[in-house]
Amino acid sequence: MADESLTITDNRTQKTYTVPIEKGTVRAMDLRQIKTGPDDFGLMTYDPAFMNTASCKSAITYLDGDAGILRYRGYPIEQLAENCTFLEVAYLLLHGELPTETELEKWNSEIMYHSLIHENVKSFMGGFHYDAHPMGILMSTVAALATFYPESRNIHDPASRRLQTVRLVGKMPTLAAFAYRHRLGMPYIYPDPDLGYTRNYMNMLWKRTEPKYAANDVLARALEVLFILHADHEQNCSTSTMRAVGSSTADPYATAAAAIAALSGPLHGGANEEVLHMLHLIGEKQNIPAYIQSVKDGKHKLMGFGHRVYKNYDPRARIIKQVASEVFEVTGRNPKIDIALELEKIALSDEYFIKRKLYPNVDFYSGIIYEAMGFNPDQFTVLFGIPRTVGWLAQWQEMLQDPEQKIARPRQVYIGPDSRDFVPMWQRGKTQTVNA
Ligand code: CMC
Repeated sequence: MADESLTITDNRTQKTYTVPIEKGTVRAMDLRQIKTGPDDFGLMTYDPAFMNTASCKSAITYLDGDAGILRYRGYPIEQLAENCTFLEVAYLLLHGELPTETELEKWNSEIMYHSLIHENVKSFMGGFHYDAHPMGILMSTVAALATFYPESRNIHDPASRRLQTVRLVGKMPTLAAFAYRHRLGMPYIYPDPDLGYTRNYMNMLWKRTEPKYAANDVLARALEVLFILHADHEQNCSTSTMRAVGSSTADPYATAAAAIAALSGPLHGGANEEVLHMLHLIGEKQNIPAYIQSVKDGKHKLMGFGHRVYKNYDPRARIIKQVASEVFEVTGRNPKIDIALELEKIALSDEYFIKRKLYPNVDFYSGIIYEAMGFNPDQFTVLFGIPRTVGWLAQWQEMLQDPEQKIARPRQVYIGPDSRDFVPMWQRGKTQTVNA
């Protein structure tokens, strides 16, 4: 068997070191022994944006970006999307195994039992301005939940962790739906646990004056599949935030609020909203070549394209494309799909995108489906956040139970001025150039 180690020669000292290789990685701390002398701090790695740094060991999601593979707990995403309900997948992510029939029944009722929110949370949400972005409402309200459940600080108590997990997964659709109706000035619809996770969410969103709102089967299943596809995606920006904030042993609500903040950015979950704005801006197929050219000229990015890990077609985008055609059978074709398809065709045959391995990601088609279903673009990232809460919580639990994890605290390479003496105001002159 090959020697699983790496030998390094430090050309500054001519000393040689051997460090073990485990699962294709060397430990950054093993490099600390490489010093030029006793006063040297030791060698560090420099990796802005964590392009090549594994921050944890995880047994939750497997992703092979070159092959376009995504698996939850070993199960291919395609099989889960075809055969499971969202809560079944949530159980899998959080517990490690698919539930039995009895376990799933109990899990479903447990989650739905916790879908209700305290009346004061409702009043709290009422304080937001009518045009507040739903992600802002969601983020702040999730953070505020910590004040309703102060025992959530007991993050080392497994029973408390489980209770907060069930609460958060159960309440997310309610908070999202209330944020939506608050925006429209419509009365809130309370959760109906009998409807199940996605149908209940649709009921809370869209029920009006009819005695009983009946969600369309195809649309309810489409939402279920979209939720499954978004449930986890290993160490992305929001999940890394969840782990980093959680590592300070903050309560899970504050921690999840931080993850929601990370998700809201246009380069992450906020991209689905941006895709719709982009397609709206392009307007007609004939404008696509000029738009592609402006992307190549560096004027803006092609939103919904590219991924840090996928250098091949995002398997989620493939499934979403299929879901789109099923949804359009019911809602009628969203004309933006034709612009998106043409945009994809042109981009995938263009040298700029080929060279950089830029393919459509999960956000490229999801917004078009959401819009056809009746969601406003500013709701799209919320629709990402509801299912991703499951992934965040699974990763948070894993992090807390990992004996190798400590408070996240990266190092830096200091490039500022050397020590210098204070300059009194009267000696500083009239103008100074300052980096903001
Ligand atoms: N349009 C045009 N050029 C792009 C794009 C894009 N969407 N994405 C990457 N590039 C270029 C980039 O300019 C760079 O070119 P060069 O080598 O000439 O400087 C090259 O491709 C490599 O890109 P990068 O910025 O080093 O890649 P990254 O891994 O740092 O960024 C990304 C990944 C997802 C932030 C980026 O591809 C992007 O901004 N995409 C658009 C936003 C988007 O769709 N985000 C959703 C991501 S998937 C869902 C999620 O996780 O939230």
